[in-house]
Amino acid sequence: MKTDPRYPHLHIVDHPLVQHKLTLMREKSCSTKDFRILLKEITMLMGYELTRDTPLTTRRIETPVAPMRAPVIAGKKDVIVPVLRAGLGMSDGLLALMPSARVGHIGLYRDENKQPVEYLVRMPPELKNRRCIIVDPMLATGNSSVHAVNVLLKRGAMEDNIKFLALVAAPEGVEVFFKAHPNIDLYVASVDEKLDKNAYIVPGLGDAGDRIFGTL
Ligand code: URA
Repeated sequence: MKTDPRYPHLHIVDHPLVQHKLTLMREKSCSTKDFRILLKEITMLMGYELTRDTPLTTRRIETPVAPMRAPVIAGKKDVIVPVLRAGLGMSDGLLALMPSARVGHIGLYRDENKQPVEYLVRMPPELKNRRCIIVDPMLATGNSSVHAVNVLLKRGAMEDNIKFLALVAAPEGVEVFFKAHPNIDLYVASVDEKLDKNAYIVPGLGDAGDRIFGTL
């Protein structure tokens, strides 16, 4: 995992499988089907890293040979929070790792000034006692990601129990994100070069939602 001295909570997942799959996704010739499959695979690999600090407890079980106390995940079920619509492409990967996780949804669109406008929020109960993992593949201006974290904080989630998982980020967005939320862990596969004038990430991979859902 790569880090950046400017941002102690930025985790760049530089695992070779993640990097290779991201390159395949970036290519404009990548089909909708392959894009979806690769996004799910990358999310699983990144999810493996993101969940590394999951607290464990033990439970008494009986193997065919002997009783033992064995490790199991402690606490209440995690909440996976896709930011609609592109985040949906990542929730499958995390659900494959954590099939019992709860799922909350945040619906945002960007207005003409690239500001997030909220049109839907549905969350499971007791956010205060759950780890929340927000997923949204493209962290561009950072405005939507800041807003998504605020939505969870407003509903009682604890700052140190929120993580954000993106695929590609722009440096401008990373700066905005950590200015607003310096203590939230952010996981990305790449911090690209810049944003263009339409707030697309360069080189990026285009519109992630369109590529996931074939709405190009
Ligand atoms: N959203 C996307 O899907 N792609 C970008 O490059 C920026 C925002």
